[in-house]
Amino acid sequence: MKIVLAYSGGLDTTVAIKWLSETFHAEVISVSVDVGQKDDFKKIEERAYKAGSAKHYLVDAKREFAENFALKDIKMNGLYEEVYPLATALARPLIAEKVAEVAKKEGTEYVAHGSTSKGNDQVRFDLALKTALDNVKIIAPARIWKMTREDEIAYARERGIPIKTESSKYSIDENLWGRSIEGDIISDPASEVPEDAFEWTAVRKQDKLKLSVEFEKGVPVRVNGEKLDPVKLISLLNEEVGSRGFGRVEHLENRVVGFKSREVYEAPAALALIAAHKDLEKTVLTPLELRFKRHLDSLWSDLVYQGLWYEPLRNTLELAGDEINKWVSGEVKLEVDLKSLRVVGRTSPYSPYSEKISSYNKGWYPSDEEARGFIEIWGMHSLLTRKARYG
Ligand code: ARG
Ligand code: SIN
Repeated sequence: MKIVLAYSGGLDTTVAIKWLSETFHAEVISVSVDVGQKDDFKKIEERAYKAGSAKHYLVDAKREFAENFALKDIKMNGLYEEVYPLATALARPLIAEKVAEVAKKEGTEYVAHGSTSKGNDQVRFDLALKTALDNVKIIAPARIWKMTREDEIAYARERGIPIKTESSKYSIDENLWGRSIEGDIISDPASEVPEDAFEWTAVRKQDKLKLSVEFEKGVPVRVNGEKLDPVKLISLLNEEVGSRGFGRVEHLENRVVGFKSREVYEAPAALALIAAHKDLEKTVLTPLELRFKRHLDSLWSDLVYQGLWYEPLRNTLELAGDEINKWVSGEVKLEVDLKSLRVVGRTSPYSPYSEKISSYNKGWYPSDEEARGFIEIWGMHSLLTRKARYG
């Protein structure tokens, strides 16, 4: 029996290699997917083999993740419960697809992942794997073995399995789009998140950063005039914006699995790009389009968060989103310093904004008669209704 395991190199999945081969007398094939996490993939491969992997694959999916997932998140202003840019949620389907490809190649139906039974990730992985492989048999060791973190460490020690020595006390998931931090003292929503939980947004630069981001059809293409591919553009903003301390999110999140959980994120590029993109949408769209788009955005974010990446409605929402984004081109100027970010200016060839119309100093003014007539009719519903109710 061959089991293909989605392998992050962390404690859970390292222990899982050994546990799977012992429990199922199986040949375990580990697959690491590079979605832009800052890991040493050579070390991960060595660890996999030392833990008992029969064969290791490394799949570079950075570009695909940036183009097909992060860029969509920008177009759809993807923020779960208005704050979380969905980094972990977006990467799961792609990781599952890559792992499923290896399973096909290896001719096995058995696929394993490291998620627990309390999380959203199991929902995302399971549903993505079921979509990719018809008769997939999913094994999630952490849903079966009931080991605590300490038990896992003891299990690894007993069997001489090397674990990441710099293992953090937090549960971290990282990719190009953000860093998710959970566990330890963070689980108490009343307590402030300790500074040691943060990496990307530790303040390293005190100066004021001015940025110009140019969008074409809803997609960021240039920073300060320089054309960059999505991976480079996002990496650059993570570094430049994160080093000024901007990009932190913490909230009490409503998980799919029925309870609230304190979640902490670092996502400097995602938050900066979504803020800029939203501003540009506001610059070009009609008020009706804008309201409709916000509705699309929130439906889309919920689907992605809830593991419903393969729900047909997602495609419909994206098609409508693409249609609206056809006009979302232009430049947004941002300023970042002291842990904060502001949009300070914007221009678009498709903006209906007219200074002549909006300025108090010049140009068009409705006449007194026009203004009175408009207000009379505009307020009629409310005034007549109040009269009918209260006299
Ligand atoms: N709660 C977040 C989400 O559902 C983050 C999950 C982080 N995963 C992890 N293995 N630490 O997307
Ligand atoms: C997990 O339990 O696997 C991580 C947490 C989550 O998915 O929300």
